[in-house]
Amino acid sequence: MSAPKLVGIAGSFNRPSKTYALVQTVADLASGRYGFSSRIYDLHDVGPSLGAAQWRKDLDDQAKGVINEIVSADALVIGSPTFKGSYPGLFKHLIDLIDPHELRAKPIIITATGGGDRHALMVEHQLRPLFGFFMAHTLRTAVYASDRDFTDYKVSSEPLANRINEVVGEISAFFPHSVRVLAATE
Ligand SMILES: Cc1cc2nc3c(=O)[nH]c(=O)nc-3n(C[C@H](O)[C@H](O)[C@H](O)COP(=O)(O)O)c2cc1C
Repeated sequence: MSAPKLVGIAGSFNRPSKTYALVQTVADLASGRYGFSSRIYDLHDVGPSLGAAQWRKDLDDQAKGVINEIVSADALVIGSPTFKGSYPGLFKHLIDLIDPHELRAKPIIITATGGGDRHALMVEHQLRPLFGFFMAHTLRTAVYASDRDFTDYKVSSEPLANRINEVVGEISAFFPHSVRVLAATE
């Protein structure tokens, strides 16, 4: 049986990026615990065709490839930087090119970063309803991180690490077989 596939999306152009680091930390912990194969993409990986595309068919192969990865994933880790209290417009445009049925019932971990704590509820007020539209299963713990949770673009705060650990634990409800396989080999 092949490993379930976890795909991470960081809605940032920055390299290095705190959002990418957060998605990577979540994906690494989840992969170690449940045996996922994982890949993470940022907006550079989607490439320049995104901005000009009105429809999915307008995207080049690179961007289509990332969307195919998203919709074929067994689980997603979504990470967005906070722009003006919400997700960046280009990140939303990527999500707009996904058909309504394509994320239905998919387990999704929602995460975001921001400069401070003022917009911490953007995960609940912006990201959760967005994936609610798709009837996806957003996991109940959402993870928001601000600048002070990182050192040199690595997760460095204990409260953030605890919250990541909490949400990764919630994945077990969707992959009970993976948990059993790992438990049997421990
Ligand atoms: C155009 C713009 C708007 C921003 N708006 C907010 C905001 O409303 N609230 C906030 O906390 N941070 C805001 N920030 C800061 C970013 O969300 C923060 O630096 C984020 O962690 C960057 O993520 P990255 O390192 O993955 O690119 C903004 C940054 C930019 C460039």
